Amino acid sequence: MELVSLRRSLGLVGIFLILALLTSGCSKSPDSTVANRAALGERALSLTPADSDLAEIYIRTCRSCHGTGASAAPLTGDLDNWKPRMDKGMDILVDNAINGFQGMPPLGLCFECSPEQFEQLIAFMATAE
Ligand code: HEC
Repeated sequence: MELVSLRRSLGLVGIFLILALLTSGCSKSPDSTVANRAALGERALSLTPADSDLAEIYIRTCRSCHGTGASAAPLTGDLDNWKPRMDKGMDILVDNAINGFQGMPPLGLCFECSPEQFEQLIAFMATAE
């Protein structure tokens, strides 16, 4: 009799172990998403345009949001986030950068940028690897 109840309680322990493993498995995916975002953010902050004049503008303006993800700005080098935006076409993106777009303030802090420079900055952020 005692052996049977011992087996039963071992069985219960087994079920608890399986449940514990399953639930810890579930909590892994949000963790790795957070880790993934953190890795993207760290990389975004380290990326700068190769051209030194453009890099100077980028660091002073766009990077304060697009290098940090502030106010949910698409991160520089986050190609998945930039792809649907690039699909709108560069002319629309330059317009949205100049006139503002939802959380994106008009001119993105670059008050002296030409449309060509906006285009170069956008192309850099959307394709940097
Ligand atoms: C104060 C923060 C901030 C700064 C500075 C900033 N941006 Fe943004 N930007 C954002 C946010 C937030 C979004 C996301 C808007 C949305 O989709 O809701 C965005 C989105 C964009 C988009 C995508 C627009 C679209 O149509 O999807 C472009 C292009 C862009 N920014 C260009 C720039 C450029 C170029 C600079 C630098 C000259 C810059 N941004 C500086 C916050 C900023």
